[in-house]
Amino acid sequence: MSKKRNQLIDNIRIAMANSHSEQEALKVAVELIDGFSEDYNWTGFYMMGDGALNVGPYIGPETEHTRIELNRGICGAAVTSKKTVMVDDVLSDPRFLACSLSTRSEIVVPLMDGNTCIGEIDIDSNQPSYFTDEDREMLEEIADIIVARLRKISGTK
Ligand code: SME
Repeated sequence: MSKKRNQLIDNIRIAMANSHSEQEALKVAVELIDGFSEDYNWTGFYMMGDGALNVGPYIGPETEHTRIELNRGICGAAVTSKKTVMVDDVLSDPRFLACSLSTRSEIVVPLMDGNTCIGEIDIDSNQPSYFTDEDREMLEEIADIIVARLRKISGTK
């Protein structure tokens, strides 16, 4: 992985170690991730609650999708498949729920706690086909670091 990508991962590790609530951890993580690329145009978390996804901290245009049922959207698809979903052209994906008219591609990375999805990282780009396997690998590693910290904060394991 590139130096810049490793640097972000290191910064996430440090920020997680210094975060003492879920909201604080997610807020600082979203700031760091969003700062990685000018072409990450909406960066945020959705967290599971009451059987659906609820929007958490985000940076980008305001979204009307504050709560997403699991059978809807690219966001729902990532939870139900328990896998990262990358969409090169959101306009040709019938699942896509638009938050901004300028979005062209999207990546959604589930936050997996063992076999349970507790939420996800969602990033939109205004560039078509913007996300690469390098983004996926980096964000999956970041997701694992965040989950480990949230687990510790909630004191469940
Ligand atoms: N595009 C997502 C919805 C979330 S907004 O982009 C912030 C989806 O299709 O599930």
